[in-house]
Amino acid sequence: MAFVARAPVHLVLNMAMTADGKVATAGREVTTFGSRHDQRALYALRATADALLCGARTVEETGATLGTGSSVFAAARRKAGLAPAALRVVVSGSASLASEAALWRQAGAPIVILTRATAPEAQRERLRKLGAQVWCSPGEALDLRAALDWLAREHGVRRVVAEGGGVLNAALLAADLVDEVRLTWVPRIFGGATSPTIADGPVARVLEDAVRFRRVSVRSVGDERFLRYLRIPRSEPTVLHGD
Ligand SMILES: NC(=O)c1ccc[n+]([C@@H]2O[C@H](COP(=O)([O-])OP(=O)(O)OC[C@H]3O[C@@H](n4cnc5c(N)ncnc54)[C@H](OP(=O)(O)O)[C@@H]3O)[C@@H](O)[C@H]2O)c1
Repeated sequence: MAFVARAPVHLVLNMAMTADGKVATAGREVTTFGSRHDQRALYALRATADALLCGARTVEETGATLGTGSSVFAAARRKAGLAPAALRVVVSGSASLASEAALWRQAGAPIVILTRATAPEAQRERLRKLGAQVWCSPGEALDLRAALDWLAREHGVRRVVAEGGGVLNAALLAADLVDEVRLTWVPRIFGGATSPTIADGPVARVLEDAVRFRRVSVRSVGDERFLRYLRIPRSEPTVLHGD
């Protein structure tokens, strides 16, 4: 793989998954299943971010508003010298993010939509009228690296917390933009071959192409495990267990 300069942004991917690796039920009836500890960990992580990043379907299906949470987390942001709230960034390549999404009704940090220049102008204008700043990726595909570079330049973003779903995660992983993964491992099983997972798109076809991480911490709270992984640079050789 050719060397590509890293975006000047540290991107943390945060997800809760079941023991069988699902992030929602097959019919997407269940979208939240972590404990209050998991919720707290999410808000604590958000309190470290300049921007929160989400896919359009997650915003629509879960009603996510990408807020700061209680005054405790607002105080943590102040102490860290961060803006009062993290920028709310949603990826919608077709610019079809629903006008009815709860995000639009929740006061908070500015909303940025990342879309493609080929998305219909009427849709982009609709999103602007809803109050968003709309960034258009040049070309056919949405260039997530260029988007992060733009967020860094335009909004001074240095640290992003990405919150799914699997389609967006897979694109971020395939573009080698994920520096850190936080996983909450919840002892439930949803099953289902079509239930959403952490990465619902091609990332690797052969072992050498897999995005690799090193586990740096694991913490148990109640029945849940909180895992933290840091990305291993592609330049580091793969060492398989037993080698
Ligand atoms: N357990 C957890 O921690 C967790 C966290 C988040 C979400 N979830 C679950 O995940 C499910 C939603 O995930 P999902 O994978 O279906 O959807 P998603 O990744 O949230 O959103 C997919 C949409 O985002 C846009 N998008 C994402 N990547 C893109 C790219 N590279 N280029 C252009 N557009 C891109 C597209 O929007 P347009 O169609 O508008 O173009 C695409 O249809 C929900 O059921 C939710 O409950 C679980």
